[in-house]
Amino acid sequence: MKKIRKAIIPAAGLGTRFLPETKAMPKEMLPVVDKPAIQLIVEEAMKSGITDILIIIGKGKRAIEDHFDSNTELELNLERKGKDKMLEAVKKTNGLNIYFKRQEHPKGLGDAVLTAKSFVGNDPFVIMLGDDLMQAETPLTKQLIDSYEKTNSSTLAVMRVPHEDTSKYGVINPAKKVSDGLYDVTSFVEKPNPEDAPSDLAIIGRYLLTPDIFEVLEHTKPGKGNEVQLTDAIDTLNKSGKVYAHEFKGSRYDTGNKFGWLQTNIEFGLQHPEVADQLKSYIKDLANKLD
Ligand code: G1P
Repeated sequence: MKKIRKAIIPAAGLGTRFLPETKAMPKEMLPVVDKPAIQLIVEEAMKSGITDILIIIGKGKRAIEDHFDSNTELELNLERKGKDKMLEAVKKTNGLNIYFKRQEHPKGLGDAVLTAKSFVGNDPFVIMLGDDLMQAETPLTKQLIDSYEKTNSSTLAVMRVPHEDTSKYGVINPAKKVSDGLYDVTSFVEKPNPEDAPSDLAIIGRYLLTPDIFEVLEHTKPGKGNEVQLTDAIDTLNKSGKVYAHEFKGSRYDTGNKFGWLQTNIEFGLQHPEVADQLKSYIKDLANKLD
């Protein structure tokens, strides 16, 4: 069986949920303590055995390219000053092959993924959405790869969400559990209203797909919001082949909206060796004042 080495990170979205901050700054570059959110996604990919990443960008996203470019001047400067830890942090993703592609006219997630067709070729690959951060002992992307190695089929990650939130996600209609946390799926529906939602199992930003998705995407008409929806293409793929849903039990953070971003920074701050203690006592003091 072929090892899964390629990932696509769609990062062409406009970030309208975070204006005016995202007017000139890509939402994927918003900091999570001291790293841009997209770096945490790339680190998850590295830990999962991915070696080649295509980041799909759009207008105003050049900061992402600069971030993953090596900065020789900065590296030499840190080396000369003996700032080894900082140097290590700056060079963290240097060993990966990171490529960029522009989606010229954003027409939805399905359309963004389609622009990666020649990068992917005939290999199964993963899609990692740029503002969904996951934390788990085994990275979620690795969990999907492990599942693929058993089933040989496309598998995407789902998580239970409050019923009133189904209209923010792709939602699955689970047929039956085939093993612990793995579902056979009857249908995939993009952003259903709560009264029409077939379950509370929402698609979160990690997908492992076989390359036949591209042929389906080429024939997928615009759906919800008049955009080409990846969820619709996956629903079609599930009719000719099989797409499983793997339930994620770790923590998920959505950095693409204001509250989610604040929450992510607090929780990651509480795990960060440099600021954790200080932040903890600050939160305790603050909570006392709020009572
Ligand atoms: C996209 C997908 C949706 C998925 C969600 C996860 O929506 O279209 O199916 O549930 O990501 O974050 P977006 O958040 O880009 O509107």
